[in-house]
Amino acid sequence: MKKVLMVCLGNICRSPLAEGILKSKVNSDNVYVDSAGTSATHQGELPDPRSIEVAHLHGLDITDQRSRPFIKDDFKNFDYIYVMDSSNYSDVVEMASTHQEKAKVKLIMNELNPKQNEQVPDPYYGGEKGFENVYQMLDKACQKIANQLK
Ligand code: 4NP
Repeated sequence: MKKVLMVCLGNICRSPLAEGILKSKVNSDNVYVDSAGTSATHQGELPDPRSIEVAHLHGLDITDQRSRPFIKDDFKNFDYIYVMDSSNYSDVVEMASTHQEKAKVKLIMNELNPKQNEQVPDPYYGGEKGFENVYQMLDKACQKIANQLK
């Protein structure tokens, strides 16, 4: 069983979409997918209504998800940790205890476009269009990740 963790700041906008999209592209017998936030501000909350809506428009239901903070044990429990932007990257890597743990952390868009360090923009303070843009970016990256996991 391979285990993948998607991480953003609040775990209510971007990483819940990444979790839902990747789950839809892999066999759950072989790949476990979860998500978390570097901040605990929204702990226990449903994904943002705009993320729920854009997922729904693309045929995905993400309303089983609840926000939770990233914890140090996640380094032990997951094989791949995908972050959305460089701020998430610094926050997560700062919690790593070993080089091996640090090496598990990757910017998700680098899977699609290696070494470009492209950021998945935080859509929280923008409109619906930002959420569709995030969905399209994550859909492409998750397709690549799903193919790699096969
Ligand atoms: P996310 O978006 O990191 O994609 O879940 C955000 C959600 C909440 C906040 C910021 C970003 N916030 O400041 O509360």
